[in-house]
Amino acid sequence: MPKNKLEVEQIDQIFNALSNSDKRFNVTIYEKRFIISLLQARMGVNKFGQFNDYFSFFKCNDEEQQLVKGLIQNNYSLFFRNSLTFTVLEHVVIPSIIQYACQGNRKEIRIWSSACAIGQEPYSLAILFAEALRKIDVDLVFRIFATDKNGLNLEAARVGHYSYADVQNVTLNRLNSWFTQKGDTYMICDELKRNIDFSVYDILDSDYSCPPASIFGDFDLVMGANLLFYYEPDIQRIMIDKLTKSMNLSGFFVTGEVERDMVLKHKNEVYPFSAIFK
Ligand SMILES: C[S@@+](CC[C@H](N)C(=O)[O-])C[C@H]1O[C@@H](n2cnc3c(N)ncnc32)[C@H](O)[C@@H]1O
Repeated sequence: MPKNKLEVEQIDQIFNALSNSDKRFNVTIYEKRFIISLLQARMGVNKFGQFNDYFSFFKCNDEEQQLVKGLIQNNYSLFFRNSLTFTVLEHVVIPSIIQYACQGNRKEIRIWSSACAIGQEPYSLAILFAEALRKIDVDLVFRIFATDKNGLNLEAARVGHYSYADVQNVTLNRLNSWFTQKGDTYMICDELKRNIDFSVYDILDSDYSCPPASIFGDFDLVMGANLLFYYEPDIQRIMIDKLTKSMNLSGFFVTGEVERDMVLKHKNEVYPFSAIFK
């Protein structure tokens, strides 16, 4: 919560200005401490010592308003972003999902990457599933439904071009196997793209319980990582409920390293500090 009354009023001023400039943008659902630190950073960048001076600038500056809106809906991501989570996924969770699918004579493994930003997360999962399935002789495919509420992110995700900063956690072997490099750009290979269906979907959309592109949920793995901390606790709860209800009986739910506490209250972590829940 904001530290004092003045901060509450300041944030309300920003909220009102943003809502007036875009009626579809509901800023009140975002976590207030996060907005305070974001505004402090913007004041610093623009060299304003006093909030009132920054606010006068903000009100009349459409570019700054769009920038703040974009930062509130932050899309920062990385391939294999949390190394412990991805190690546990690779060595424990994915083998168990494959075994469960084989035991049930299923033909398809279903994954939902619910806030996929510009694609680093679903492509990381695609690499792990493709490598795991290559090692065994089974008639099983995997399908990743990758969604985000921001359509511009999905356009970039479909293209699948990344900078060195994005792929810094990718091993050289994997860079050689799954990417083509052109200058400073790393391009995802088509084989991985074929397993991923990108579509716009807002997790808070109350009309659909899972992305319409997936038709039904029944997911073996649901990613809801680095997303919850932007929202107020009651909204986090709604999101966790929705994401976990879309899983099948042996499904796994993955969140961000810094979001574990929000989920630990409701679910069991499969491996300590992995941020993977059942
Ligand atoms: C910081 S990125 C996280 C990307 C990735 N999951 C990761 O862990 O690296 C947060 C993403 O969540 C998306 N997002 C925020 N609220 C959302 C919502 N209600 N429904 C769907 N996507 C949302 C944003 O557009 C942004 O792309």
